Amino acid sequence: MSVRIAPSILSADFCRLGEEINAVVESGADLIHFDVMDGQFVPNLTMGPPVLASIRSVTEVPLDVHLMIDEPERYVEDFANAGADIISFHVEATQHPHRLIHKIKDLGCQAGIALNPSTSQDEIEYLVDELDMVLVMTVNPGFSGQSFIPDMIEKIRNVRAMMGDRDVEVDGGIDNQTARLVSEAGANILVSGSYIYGHTSYMEAIESLRDYTV
Ligand code: DX5
Ligand code: ZN
Repeated sequence: MSVRIAPSILSADFCRLGEEINAVVESGADLIHFDVMDGQFVPNLTMGPPVLASIRSVTEVPLDVHLMIDEPERYVEDFANAGADIISFHVEATQHPHRLIHKIKDLGCQAGIALNPSTSQDEIEYLVDELDMVLVMTVNPGFSGQSFIPDMIEKIRNVRAMMGDRDVEVDGGIDNQTARLVSEAGANILVSGSYIYGHTSYMEAIESLRDYTV
């Protein structure tokens, strides 16, 4: 299984968002990671469906939507209509995760569940067969540029064992050092924001994350 790289546009220059997306796609990005925050589930606000629809119009690369919002069931249809390919929600944010997985799939998207650093993989034991992807947060959600939490390596191993050959994504503090650790533990989709967008060459940054196979 080869590693796929998903630049998080939260670290892009928003004045030049279209250019910033094309630049990472031309540099080898496999997906575009789109972070949605509501100021409730996490202490930050970002962007919504109209911004996703604009991005959809400039690229054909799969759009990987990460919902860090309470009651995500209220918005999945809007994000699907705006062009999402994958929609992940936090298991901590909804009363009915099983129902929501099926709603996302019925909308024609792949369904993922995200786990906060303090949430055990045991929380999704009875959901795992339904999922296309598990997103293991390797920082506390809310901001780019935070430090990787090393204790998450064991969780990535556990989630890989649960998921077989399906996707295991990691998000937070991924750089050329931590990319090796998470890849070896079994992650196959690596989200990276500040490391890629803070690099003078996006291509060099993306290649440096992809050097490992799992
Ligand atoms: C954090 C977001 C991440 C963030 C990653 O809550 O979910 O996707 O943009 O940024 P870095 O790679 O800088 O940790
Ligand atoms: Zn994210």
